[in-house]
Amino acid sequence: MYKILKKQQLTPLIYSMDVYAPRIAQSGKPGQFLIVRTSEKGERIPLTICDMDAQKGSVQIVIQVAGLSSYKICNLKEGDSFTDVAGPLGRPSDFMELTPQQLKDMSYLFVAGGVGAAPVYPQAKYLHSMGAKVDVIIGARSKELIIMEEEMSKVCDNLYICTDDGSKGEKGVVTTVIDRLIAEGKHYDTSVAIGPMVMMKFAVLCAKKHNLPMIVSLNTLMVDGTGMCGACRVSVAGQTKFACVDGPEFNGYDVDFDEAMRRQALYKPQEQAANTKAGLDFLVRK
Ligand SMILES: Cc1cc2nc3c(=O)[nH]c(=O)nc-3n(C[C@H](O)[C@H](O)[C@H](O)COP(=O)(O)OP(=O)(O)OC[C@H]3O[C@@H](n4cnc5c(N)ncnc54)[C@H](O)[C@@H]3O)c2cc1C
Ligand code: FES
Repeated sequence: MYKILKKQQLTPLIYSMDVYAPRIAQSGKPGQFLIVRTSEKGERIPLTICDMDAQKGSVQIVIQVAGLSSYKICNLKEGDSFTDVAGPLGRPSDFMELTPQQLKDMSYLFVAGGVGAAPVYPQAKYLHSMGAKVDVIIGARSKELIIMEEEMSKVCDNLYICTDDGSKGEKGVVTTVIDRLIAEGKHYDTSVAIGPMVMMKFAVLCAKKHNLPMIVSLNTLMVDGTGMCGACRVSVAGQTKFACVDGPEFNGYDVDFDEAMRRQALYKPQEQAANTKAGLDFLVRK
């Protein structure tokens, strides 16, 4: 059993958990994810590996209540256990193939939307520890939704916060900050955007305008997470790819975001019905 060793509430709907999963804690790499289940018949929920402690044998996950399964996970308490934790899954980030010498000369811009700060964290932490220059933008609707600010500030050179309503940091969306940084003369070799699909779509359009390469991490629907079911398929450079085994990271310039967003909304009626049935009306979008 995969025991929850520590649980923390980060915002009203976002929680962090340290879960005992020693094999994953030994072998997970930035960019990879795991799949958890809360019961034998439970839904398989993909979550990014946010941090690992090989000595304690624990992995950190950060999860936002998005529907019934994530709600159930967020209701687990310290001492409770997951039935399964499968991983590490997916390909590690491409930069894991670069040598320490190459990484030292690189400069990265990370763009995180909401809970996307969690998957950005292990990447920024690794690159910063290797001597790369790392700037991070965290954007959210309002200040209550900004997470991991303190942790992130320790693993980057500059941290920029923005909120749609201006309640914290700069008023505006992440693309406003990208535009400003580039206009101020900042240069980045490459960038990484992780967050809601629509945010990644617009971050890529913005990056393209500045000739800034951009990797995105796709949070497509997933079932098995091993390339067998096809649930996570996406079109990348005109080819069908499976986000669980070919990704989840892809060159953002090549991703067909409109198709990916349509596929992500395929089960909206069923998801909303499940939320209503469980009394989770605050999650039902009109
Ligand atoms: C590789 C990957 C990494 C992820 N990392 C994180 C993370 O670190 N933290 C986090 O909070 N969320 C993460 N997600 C998203 C998370 O898996 C979904 O929010 C969760 O599955 C929603 O399930 P639900 O039953 O609570 O919500 P539902 O009501 O079923 O769905 C709400 C929305 O979540 C998405 N979703 C639903 N089922 C799945 C599924 N099986 N796989 C993927 N997306 C689904 C859909 O967009 C859906 O519209 C990740 C997704 C992927 C693919
Ligand atoms: S989740 Fe089944 S093929 Fe990717």
